[in-house]
Amino acid sequence: MTSSLTQVAYVAAAVLFIVGLKRMSHPRTAVQGNVLGIAGMGLAILLALVSSQLEHHWLIGIGLLTGAAVGIGFALTVKMTDMPQMVALFNGFGGAASVLVAAAALLHGTADTVSSQTAVGVSGVIGAITFWGSLVAFGKLQELDLFNKPIEFPYKQPVTIGIACLMLLMVILLGLGNSWLFVPIVLLASAIGVILVNPIGGADMPVVIALLNSYSGLAAAATGFVISNHVLVISGSLVGASGIILTRLMCKAMNRSLPNVLFGLMATGKERDDGDIYENVQITTADNVALMLEAAQRVVFVPGYGMAVAQAQHAVRNLAKLLEAQQTSVEYAIHPVAGRMPGHMNVLLAEADVPYEQLIEMDQMNPTMDNVDVAIVLGANDVVNPVARTDPQSPIAGMPIIDVDKARIVIVIKRSLSPGFAGIPNPLFVNSNTWMLFGDGQQAVLDITTAITDG
Ligand code: TAP
Repeated sequence: MTSSLTQVAYVAAAVLFIVGLKRMSHPRTAVQGNVLGIAGMGLAILLALVSSQLEHHWLIGIGLLTGAAVGIGFALTVKMTDMPQMVALFNGFGGAASVLVAAAALLHGTADTVSSQTAVGVSGVIGAITFWGSLVAFGKLQELDLFNKPIEFPYKQPVTIGIACLMLLMVILLGLGNSWLFVPIVLLASAIGVILVNPIGGADMPVVIALLNSYSGLAAAATGFVISNHVLVISGSLVGASGIILTRLMCKAMNRSLPNVLFGLMATGKERDDGDIYENVQITTADNVALMLEAAQRVVFVPGYGMAVAQAQHAVRNLAKLLEAQQTSVEYAIHPVAGRMPGHMNVLLAEADVPYEQLIEMDQMNPTMDNVDVAIVLGANDVVNPVARTDPQSPIAGMPIIDVDKARIVIVIKRSLSPGFAGIPNPLFVNSNTWMLFGDGQQAVLDITTAITDG
């Protein structure tokens, strides 16, 4: 294949990535966007294979087959609720791959200029931070105790800043030909990755996941410079840039600045005392909820992570259709960090064919909340916790919430009084207008539907 033809084909792959990314920004076109992205990646792999003088084709074949088998295996078996952990792991694998490619370039002597050796150092730094940071994020999302234990040592912040400065100095020295510094650089970056992500918890994880996603792209872009592969530079930069945009959106959703998330050392809340705040909980039944709904004119569902666990979206849609048939207005209030990944609730509700125009963003819903007759909180907890407005010491202090407590009646469907991801009690559950319907989300909604149909 001639070099100019290869370059044209690389541009085609880059265009496929860009158009694919654009199409992924809306649920209606997201599947098409994915297909375009896959086509771009397929083309890029093919070009890399035919355009370079590769040896050991059988080794590359084994790598491709193993990667494909692992990817397909994960895609087929992973539960929808475990997708965020999978994304965290895959971000980490991207970072690790960048470190390995950079190391191979050093070993083979292909990185022999100041710029390519500096790119090797940058790849090692961002790749190692991404890998270890993502592993810790995976552990936290999986709620493994080991990853929620704080790492403490004297003068932590100055020491961390010192390590970061030393690491940057070593990258400059590596660029000047001191290849042996690559291993210590990767070790220091690994330590920084763990130290940075370890204290972050509570409700701030969405920001970290988006940031690590961006880092994995930047690491790939740096690796593109190492091996002079333009399409890798472009695709890495696209991932990096879209990850930064998502990080900004998540920070805005959480009402936090990025330094505040990274260095604010938010408490996870796991060790807080629930006290006796749940003494006066009002418990209701599906039959009673059915009566409340029959008298309502405007009903708002507020879905959260529990709806994903219960896979209750289809049952909710059916209940909504039943209410609409009785001339009741039905909407869905969507919090930007509800669930465990960006757009989690939108994806689930789209799967159940809920019309897009009924999905109302938090900022639009809140000013109208006092006109809502019944707000049904389905498996949501942190995103409706009024403590965010009232307790400046809370791990979710300042986070905008959906103001369900302003609705006339609030029904909270969950299995128990246990906390959400941030690990803090929720005083919403004891409000005088709140009624708890305990049970699995899907079963509870089915029971309400049956009660309305039979009633
Ligand atoms: P959470 O605060 O995590 O609360 C979910 C609730 O669902 C739990 O209290 C749980 O209570 C209930 N639940 C679990 N399984 C259920 C089932 N089968 N049926 C009914 N209820 C069930 O969820 P949220 O309000 O959506 O908030 C999301 C949290 O995750 C935020 O803190 C957010 O920062 C964090 N986070 C978000 C993301 C993104 S990007 N969205 C990523 C990482 C972390 P029971 O056990 O009592 O049923």
